[in-house]
Amino acid sequence: MKNILIIGANSAIAKSVSRLYAEEHCRLYLLARNVEELALQKTDLEIRGASEVDFATFDVNNFGAHDAIIDQVLDSLGSIDLAILCHGSLPDQALCAENFAAALQEFNTNALSVISLLTSLANHMSIQRNGCIAVITSVAGDRGRQSNYIYGAAKGMVSLYLQGLRGRLYPNGIHVVDIRPGFVDTPMTKAFKKGALWASPEQVAQCIVTGIRKKKHTIYAPWFWRIIMMIVCSVPEAIFKRVKL
Ligand SMILES: NC(=O)c1ccc[n+]([C@@H]2O[C@H](COP(=O)([O-])OP(=O)(O)OC[C@H]3O[C@@H](n4cnc5c(N)ncnc54)[C@H](OP(=O)(O)O)[C@@H]3O)[C@@H](O)[C@H]2O)c1
Repeated sequence: MKNILIIGANSAIAKSVSRLYAEEHCRLYLLARNVEELALQKTDLEIRGASEVDFATFDVNNFGAHDAIIDQVLDSLGSIDLAILCHGSLPDQALCAENFAAALQEFNTNALSVISLLTSLANHMSIQRNGCIAVITSVAGDRGRQSNYIYGAAKGMVSLYLQGLRGRLYPNGIHVVDIRPGFVDTPMTKAFKKGALWASPEQVAQCIVTGIRKKKHTIYAPWFWRIIMMIVCSVPEAIFKRVKL
């Protein structure tokens, strides 16, 4: 039986991931803002096979509460075998480009809250000397694009942080996974026109669970985004800066 902590548990991708782990009879602890949705998820996940589901309401931007919430989770689960960080927000790029207060709010949600939670989780898991930490970043973090560089910079910061954290925690037996989805049809992207490159949250969740089981370091979800991003990253900057992307 695995003890799994899911942060940002009401996200569409997180819900699909939780369902897959419920079918494996795991014990889940869910953290998110909307408590009614969490209560509904608890019932659903227990019906699907979860051995136990606990939850607590949590705003990731309440940085002062981070250590206490991880302590609370550990009091309940005893140990954390797997922590998955799923929360995120899609910034208003035009607003954030001209308004630093708005940009800071997005960096808090998409980067600094993640780094704060990872600090607390890494400290606890180092003592445990086993476990896995997985974070949903994005392919947007692979290269800064003029249309969404606030989001991309935040996700890219987390990806770089994870690379270093992976090395730090490796001697302690803790595995660190960077999950980089491409376009996923979720509430976050409801305003976007969908096309051939779009995946469902269920497809991405399957990539996540399989990748974690295989101890991948970086999971592109779906896999073809690895190739797309290799191509995108290979375009010379002198050309890339002229492309309206
Ligand atoms: N959809 C895509 O195309 C795509 C692509 C690449 C990466 N991602 C990443 O995938 C992850 C999951 O997103 P999703 O696509 O599943 O979208 P989603 O369903 O809109 O989920 C985003 C979640 O983040 C939570 N959140 C935002 N701010 C929060 C805060 N201050 N405290 C606590 N929770 C907060 C939201 O909580 P509330 O429900 O309370 O608002 C929401 O549940 C995110 O990290 C996102 O950046 C998504």
